[in-house]
Amino acid sequence: MLSRRVLITQPIPEPGPTMVAELADTVDANLEHRVLAPGELRARVAGVDAILCLLTDAIDAAVLEAARGCRVVANMAVGYNNIDVPTATRLGIMVTNTPGVLTEATADLTMTLLLGTARRVAEGDRVMRADAFPGWGPLYMLGGDVTGRVLGLVGPGRIATAVARRALGFEMTILYHGLHASPELDALGARSVGFEELLAASDFVSLHVPLTAATKHLINARTLALMKPTAYLINTSRGPVVDESALAAALRSGVIAGAGLDVYEREPRIAPELAACENTLLLPHLGSATHATRAAMSRAAARNLTAVLRGEEPPDLVNPEVLLAPRRGD
Ligand code: DGY
Repeated sequence: MLSRRVLITQPIPEPGPTMVAELADTVDANLEHRVLAPGELRARVAGVDAILCLLTDAIDAAVLEAARGCRVVANMAVGYNNIDVPTATRLGIMVTNTPGVLTEATADLTMTLLLGTARRVAEGDRVMRADAFPGWGPLYMLGGDVTGRVLGLVGPGRIATAVARRALGFEMTILYHGLHASPELDALGARSVGFEELLAASDFVSLHVPLTAATKHLINARTLALMKPTAYLINTSRGPVVDESALAAALRSGVIAGAGLDVYEREPRIAPELAACENTLLLPHLGSATHATRAAMSRAAARNLTAVLRGEEPPDLVNPEVLLAPRRGD
């Protein structure tokens, strides 16, 4: 019989904690609303069979080595750049994520940023709160149009496709760029183009790529300069995909018109020069932050974790090659 000791690294919504508690022999749940420091995390993973963690937990090689014998790291997120997957695989540890359940919420927030950035919603709110509205004027606080404009989706995955469906309601022309063609996006009438063509042709560039070595700083001074001066950048993927200093410089000097961001290079911090730019709409990583979506993410993470504890293959395994290799962690 497999042993069932579980660490839940941070407080998460139901039903995940109950699902885990029903199956586990022991649950060590961090109930404090804070990320465990690296040393604490290493100490608390020792001897566990499963870890349920969040995107803010750095599950690096040192943590995984300390967790030798652990069977699964179940991330409550679709992105898993916080986990050293090659090391997990080498140690025979399964890694899972929560795809699908946050697609619609994140696509909704992408549209919120797109509309709010173009129409200067945050700036307008600041004006009203400061009681600084000078009165309606024909040249006052003009923004960009959305309806009928060109949307460029970088990364052709589920969230990009859900954004495309919404953008069709705004009669937008949709371009996309990815390593592979997307039958789903093609079926919506989107056109696959090269990355640089997408940057040059789009009125809105929306990022939907995972963070990898290849996508880090994909948006930098050179690629920003390829965008139209009237264009907007939207990022609901991962902060380090954008070079924040280069973006701030581009926003200040009018290389692009504005940016709507939900994610940051050094979360939870933001580059001060970016925060100083008026032509931004800045949100604190809210893509999946709805009650129903977070419950669904909790359920999906717990379903993955409990499947492994039962000796089954988890539904959302990101390193299936781990099943082929002999376990080295025991
Ligand atoms: C994810 O799941 O990767 C999202 O960033 C959470 O909002």
